Amino acid sequence: LPAVQDGPEPTPHTQEAHAPEDDFTAKWTRADARQLQRVSDPTTPPRENSMPASQTMPEVPQDFPDMSNDEVWVWDSWPLTDEDGNQYSVKGQEIIFSLVADRSLGFDERHQYAKIGYFYRETGVPADERPENGGWTYGGLVFDEGVTDQIFEDKSFSHQTQWSGSARVFKGGEVKLFFTDVAFYRDAQGQDVKPYDPRLALSVGKVHTTGKDVKLTGFNKVDELLKADGEYYQTGEQNPSFNFRDPFTFEDPAHPGETYMVFEGNTAMPRDEAYCTEEDLGYQAGDPFAETAEEVNASGATYQIANIGLAKAKNDDLTEWEFLPPILSANCVTDQTERPQFVFKDGKSYLFTITHRGTFAAGIDGPEGVYGFVGDGIRSDFQPLNGSGLALGNPTNLNYQQGQPFAPNVDQHPGAFQAYSHYVMPGGLVQSFIDTIGTNDNFVRGGTLAPTVKMDIAGDTTSVDYSYGNGGLGGWADVPANININPGGQV
Ligand code: FRU
Ligand code: FRU
Ligand code: FRU
Repeated sequence: LPAVQDGPEPTPHTQEAHAPEDDFTAKWTRADARQLQRVSDPTTPPRENSMPASQTMPEVPQDFPDMSNDEVWVWDSWPLTDEDGNQYSVKGQEIIFSLVADRSLGFDERHQYAKIGYFYRETGVPADERPENGGWTYGGLVFDEGVTDQIFEDKSFSHQTQWSGSARVFKGGEVKLFFTDVAFYRDAQGQDVKPYDPRLALSVGKVHTTGKDVKLTGFNKVDELLKADGEYYQTGEQNPSFNFRDPFTFEDPAHPGETYMVFEGNTAMPRDEAYCTEEDLGYQAGDPFAETAEEVNASGATYQIANIGLAKAKNDDLTEWEFLPPILSANCVTDQTERPQFVFKDGKSYLFTITHRGTFAAGIDGPEGVYGFVGDGIRSDFQPLNGSGLALGNPTNLNYQQGQPFAPNVDQHPGAFQAYSHYVMPGGLVQSFIDTIGTNDNFVRGGTLAPTVKMDIAGDTTSVDYSYGNGGLGGWADVPANININPGGQV
């Protein structure tokens, strides 16, 4: 792809696969991530998009419909899947899980109060024949009070919350719900008394469909799967604001019968002793735009050391897991590689993850969105898609500050916070939630799913399909099943 601005050359990546157990971690380098600014047009005026259209989500209008009919805030959402990421309906009903919170809270207060809820709707209806808001029925919360706090030995938490994950469906409507079980220990001023405690967890239940009604049973017990270890994955002792969450399970086509999990982590260095190496920077010898490790380490960029973790199941029930070394690090690039997932296509392994503009390290800039990497296996020398890693970003002007979702900069593109938490579905469809649309003079908070968009994924590139839906925007909250189990009359 043509890089238009002067800047460093990206790091060469071979895409070569290593065994899942190997101690090889691909690097999303600063040289790679600096390609983001090379494709941003420095002459773009305020409120316009400076990034390439082929990696930009079409602009979402402010008058969006609410999928929950005002019942709850909705953000991160995931479908019922199998080991290959196919999306299922059960007896003609599509089911999705979402983080939800009470609408009496401010949308930015949601993280400490998140609970997993579910929605359902009839399958097989084209998006343009559904109600505008996607036609979902809100089914309520998955867990009764007092279930997800069981795994915490220290019950003095101030907040006990449920964060993202993924759901696998098995014979007879059994569902294994992988999620992040979180306890916060805060005082009345909101200060941590001790670091928050996120753990990867599993709860098992069942889907029951009666006509058009969907009920969940079970989900009354939680198995703790993994806690950050401090060796591969940073702990709360090493950094109280560490990230460890968002389990996504799958089967590696190269190792049939084994179940793996990717999740969000940080490189396991103590916050104040963290450093980045020449390999994390990834410049080629003699590159006139190279930085030295010394200057990067002095810049504050060492506070941003995300990684994507890998774990392997040790039993068929998927209740026992072991850590493997991280498959990707983003040291001195970004602090959050959230909701990682794999898509397997054309013999390649595509690793996708979301990151915010605000979590990039000093000297790195890029839009909110989903980023992707391609390799020959689940542990590879991953090559960032489209040169930089950006797969689908919000329309953003990198020449101007972003502000915050509650105070979006007036010079920024009104879509800069429009969507987040993108999840890549079969056929390159991408769902996400609406955060903020507009700028300080006129903006609307979201809390419902955005229109689904479509990316074409080919080789080491992606591009937005503007022929999909209406100028590239498909149905609101459209998370369609591609496989129907126990069809009961539905196709
Ligand atoms: C070993 C292996 C290697 C290959 C890698 C790909 O388990 O099959 O031969 O490099 O895994 O996943
Ligand atoms: C900032 C943030 C988000 C994440 C949440 C977790 O809002 O870091 O990226 O969802 O807080 O605490
Ligand atoms: C992404 C995210 C997830 C986390 C959840 C918490 O939007 O930060 O990583 O599980 O939100 O609300």
